[in-house]
Amino acid sequence: MKTSGGSDAMKRRAGESAAEAVSDGDVVGLGTGSTAAHAIRRIGDRVDAGLDARGVPTSFASRELARDAGVPCLDLPEAVGPDGPGIDVAIDGADQVAVGRGDGPAVGPLIKGGGAAHAREKLVDAAADRFLVVADPSKETPVLDRSVPVEVLPAGRSAVAEAVRAAGGEPTLRRAERKDGPVVTDNGNLVFDASFGAIDDPSALATTLSTTPGVVEHGLFVGLADEVHVGTESGVRVARR
Ligand code: A5P
Repeated sequence: MKTSGGSDAMKRRAGESAAEAVSDGDVVGLGTGSTAAHAIRRIGDRVDAGLDARGVPTSFASRELARDAGVPCLDLPEAVGPDGPGIDVAIDGADQVAVGRGDGPAVGPLIKGGGAAHAREKLVDAAADRFLVVADPSKETPVLDRSVPVEVLPAGRSAVAEAVRAAGGEPTLRRAERKDGPVVTDNGNLVFDASFGAIDDPSALATTLSTTPGVVEHGLFVGLADEVHVGTESGVRVARR
C-alpha cells in the first residue's frame, strides 16, 4: 500500500536530482510512483533540450508517462537481450529504505510495491549498472517494518497465504479502490500485503518468499540500491552504499 508522508516538493527534488545523473547515450530504467514520475518528467525535459536517452519502463503507468514526457522507450527484453544496449542506470522510488544501520552500508534494503509494480521494477532495477532510489525523508528507517507486497499467481493465493503465516507474517489481499474485488497487477496477478512487524533479517525473508511456490515476486529489494536521493525541505541528501 502507498505511503503518504513526504511533500510533492520533496519528491520532485529527489526525482530531479537523480535525473541529472543520466548521461548522453544512456538507457534508463524508469521507475513507478509519484517520486519516480518527477525523474521521468525531468528526463523528458532534458531529451527536449537535446539529451540522447532512452527509457525502459517498469509499468503501464511509467510507459504512459514517458510517452507524454517525450522519452523514447525500449522493452526490457530488447534492452537486455544479446544484442541490446543494456541498462546504464535505473531510477525508482521506494516505500521504505533502510539507511545507516550499524556498521552496514549507508544504503540498505528497500520495500517496494506500493503501486503493485515491484515484479517488473525488480527486473529492471536489478539489470541496471546503477540503481538510484528516489525518496523523501518519510521513507527512511533504521529497520524495515512496513508490510511487504507479494505478487502471487491467482491459483496460488491460498498456498502463499499459508506460507506467509508460517514465516511469521499476516497476509492481506490488496483490494482495488475504484473497482469491486482485488487489485490485479500489470501481469494479471494478485497482491498480498504481508505484515511481519520489524524485519530483522530482510535477506532471509527475501529468500523464504522467493522460494515459495506461487510467489511471482516480492517487494524486498536486498543489495540492489547503489544510491538514495532523499529530497528534503531545502535540498537533496545523497547516500551511497
Ligand atoms: C510501485 O509499485 C512502488 O514500488 C513505488 O516505487 C513505490 O510505491 C514508491 O512510490 P511513491 O514514490 O509514489 O511513494
